[in-house]
Amino acid sequence: MRPSPLPLLAFASLAWASIQQVPMGQHDTEAPSDFAVYQSDVSPSHSIRIKRQNSTLCDTTVDQYTGWLDVGYKHLFFWYFAAEEVASDADSSPLALWLTGGPGGSSMLGMLQELGPCLINDHGNGTRYNPYGWNRKTALVFVDQPAGVGFSYLDEGEPVPNNSFSSAADMQVFLQMFVSQVFPQHADGPLVITGESYAGHYLPTLGAEIVRQNKLHPKQAQVPLKSLAIGNGYVSPLDTAFGYWETLCTTNPGVKEPVFNATRCDIMATNMPRCLDVAKTCYNHPDPAICAAAEKVCWDGVISWYDSESYAGGRNRFDITAPCDIDDFCYANTALIEEYLNLPPIFAALGVPPFLKNFTVGSDAVAEAFTLSNDLGISMIPEVQYLLASQIDILIYQGNLDLACNTAGAKRWTNAMPWKGQPAFAAKNLVPWTSVVDGKEMEVGMWKEVNIQMIDGDEKMTRFALVTIDGSGHMVPQDQPEVALDMLNRWLAGESFK
Ligand SMILES: *[C@@H]1O[C@H](CO)[C@@H](O)[C@H](O)[C@H]1NC(C)=O
Ligand SMILES: *[C@@H]1O[C@H](CO)[C@@H](O)[C@H](O)[C@H]1NC(C)=O
Ligand SMILES: *[C@@H]1O[C@H](CO)[C@@H](O)[C@H](O)[C@H]1NC(C)=O
Ligand SMILES: *[C@@H]1O[C@H](CO)[C@@H](O)[C@H](O)[C@H]1NC(C)=O
Ligand SMILES: *[C@@H]1O[C@H](CO)[C@@H](O)[C@H](O)[C@H]1NC(C)=O
Repeated sequence: MRPSPLPLLAFASLAWASIQQVPMGQHDTEAPSDFAVYQSDVSPSHSIRIKRQNSTLCDTTVDQYTGWLDVGYKHLFFWYFAAEEVASDADSSPLALWLTGGPGGSSMLGMLQELGPCLINDHGNGTRYNPYGWNRKTALVFVDQPAGVGFSYLDEGEPVPNNSFSSAADMQVFLQMFVSQVFPQHADGPLVITGESYAGHYLPTLGAEIVRQNKLHPKQAQVPLKSLAIGNGYVSPLDTAFGYWETLCTTNPGVKEPVFNATRCDIMATNMPRCLDVAKTCYNHPDPAICAAAEKVCWDGVISWYDSESYAGGRNRFDITAPCDIDDFCYANTALIEEYLNLPPIFAALGVPPFLKNFTVGSDAVAEAFTLSNDLGISMIPEVQYLLASQIDILIYQGNLDLACNTAGAKRWTNAMPWKGQPAFAAKNLVPWTSVVDGKEMEVGMWKEVNIQMIDGDEKMTRFALVTIDGSGHMVPQDQPEVALDMLNRWLAGESFK
């Protein structure tokens, strides 16, 4: 196992398997002719090539399309699914964007292992319909980003994207073209951007970029962003580190006995103040050398006690009660996804350019570039504050058995974040919420939320909610599919979690 320098984040202590696709050749082969091409209305260097897929690749009856956004030398892969139920009286349909974390993780992991309309089968040679796919009431698009991840690629010799902010700029262009030109039925949204893990960095950054660009260019097509739904997100690294103790040394995650014994808990507690101290210094002075030193202090003193024992046959960082089946990702399904997506008929159907020799679920090159530029250690709370001030609703949802992006840390930063809603939010206690599982109504976790008027004279209330899910690790739609879909649909409909 790699000790540092990737200690804290969601998929961090990984050695990604292969970086075959980053960056590959500059190519003479143009897009095959079965792609339709849309040229951007606002930028000559942006276009989208798209083709229809049938249910052979992903077992679902709804319309599905795949393709790439070409942004200069960057090429972003997407897979789009229509909603199963379309409200006939609406002129605009909801759209959800899903981003898997990493940095460097392919959104195909979210799609085929968690919430897609179809999931990988047990043999890694096909898919099966997922009755709890998140496209029940909203269209759904998965994007491999930044360029260099999954089926997304860069032209030869071009630099690998190295931070959330430049990734967000490309994604903003993608969404603007996507909803205004390619799928104009989504032009008025509402759009929810959602994802997991390191998407706790991607989503606040992307949301803030969307709001800024909408304001800067009021005459251009607007991206109809309504809300964010961040699942086990890596928003505030300092708070995630702090949450290690509560997650491992108490029964709060919903375990009978703490995972760690008193000896280890005592060591972690002793080291915690210094970890928080240096992590705070990194927040205030986000210099790569300072942040690297901070990450090492937290890794050595706190994180490594668990994470350095996470590998095939060892501990699972994404679920403190589960075994770890394979290195890095822990879940055997992840390897099956890689197997499946590397099958030649899949490459042919997607129209993957011939120079892309291999699909991998994680890009080492992107992970390293993000590390070197110090994207990992910084807090995304300023972007969350900006979004709330801009009347964007935010749902923070958390599987309680996760350690990598733990609930204890999420509770801490959501209570501590200064904004107009803080006093009301912090004053509330989490209370149980119920959902129907296997036909039975039951308590499935805890929740609290506030609805705050953010702009004087504007009646719109801005919603900020924290929802936890019991019996779930890092990947909520994988571990509690029924509950996860119910949660999403309530959020989309503006309903309470009572
Ligand atoms: C593709 O990558 C996987 C691991 O990610 C590796 O096992 C396989 O050999 C690679 N295939 C090719 C053709 O490079
Ligand atoms: C997938 O593999 C299983 C087990 O080897 C086999 O029975 C099945 O026919 C295969 N399916 C496809 C679509 O190739
Ligand atoms: C505490 O746990 C660690 C790791 O499992 C183990 O090595 C150590 O012996 C335990 N200490 C006691 C006092 O049980
Ligand atoms: C789906 O499309 C592929 C080509 O991508 C084609 O070979 C196959 O016959 C089609 N299947 C159906 C059921 O239409
Ligand atoms: C990040 O990428 C930008 C653009 O390619 C480059 O100018 C910058 O030097 C990179 N930063 C680091 C730390 O590598």
